[in-house]
Amino acid sequence: MAKVALTRILPDAGMALLKEAEAAGEIELDIWPGDLPPDREALVALLHGCDGAIVLVTDPIGAELLDAEPQIRVLSQFAVGYDNIDLTAATARGVAVCNTPGVLTETTADLAWALLMASARRVVEGADYVRAGKWQTWGPTLLMGADVHHATLGIVGFGRIGKEVAKRGRGFDMRILAFDTMPDEQAAADLGIELVDLETLLRESDFVSLHCALTAETRHLIDADALALMKPTAILINAARGPVVDTDALVNALQTGAIAGAGLDVTDPEPIPADHPLVGLQNVVIVPHIASASIATRGKMAEMAAQNLLAVLRGERPAHIVNPEVLS
Ligand code: DGY
Repeated sequence: MAKVALTRILPDAGMALLKEAEAAGEIELDIWPGDLPPDREALVALLHGCDGAIVLVTDPIGAELLDAEPQIRVLSQFAVGYDNIDLTAATARGVAVCNTPGVLTETTADLAWALLMASARRVVEGADYVRAGKWQTWGPTLLMGADVHHATLGIVGFGRIGKEVAKRGRGFDMRILAFDTMPDEQAAADLGIELVDLETLLRESDFVSLHCALTAETRHLIDADALALMKPTAILINAARGPVVDTDALVNALQTGAIAGAGLDVTDPEPIPADHPLVGLQNVVIVPHIASASIATRGKMAEMAAQNLLAVLRGERPAHIVNPEVLS
């Protein structure tokens, strides 16, 4: 019987599939019960002797851990991004790495837009103002923000999520720019989007929204130099990965007025401590990495992660595998 580790309890739709496989005597589940991720020692212990695992963005899996557990055949990631897994090490050891693309695309784009709207129109500041009992009258200059309609939206990473963000921008009559190292020219033409280089995008956009994967090339892609290119009225949105932005440079840009604001679903470090300078800034909206967290989407992600895992253990081809070469 295959031993399967889960580093967190998943939404019901995924748990049901796994419990069914367990009841059928196909797998034996070892589930980390905590709300917080297992620490290094606990993760090593949890993965000990398992044939496969469903893991999260909070579980770093490197070569050392895989060498200690050479029987592992599959790491099924409960996310589309898998930068917590050393893919090269997994592939070299024949470990299938699966993920959950597609099902979270629109949900993530919606949240990026929620951050964009909230930052532009100072929604969180406004709600705090009311809650603090400060609302005394209608004010001619009270909490004035930036217009979204007819503004320029710059999308960094024109993949699945970036395209959905762009589609939403069309409804606001925006001029839309996109930068990608492998641009999809057809999609850009279909959506009426201008493909530009990063420098042009940063210089000309009123909103810069990040949707690229975290790789060695994109780590600190938005550094002090990139922020200096942005308009002082511009707002940065990050629903990709925290380390795509140099946090110290961002704090400095927000404090000095080099840019006007930021809406962040992801941070570096993550979680960001409540006493971090970024958290104290009025012109920043931070939410705790919830872009894919709609009830329906998290259910579909759990189902997909369970199906991917079970497929590999059954010797079948999983629907979503990032290193298919290990199957041959
Ligand atoms: C992903 O799927 O990569 C998300 O960031 C996790 O919600």
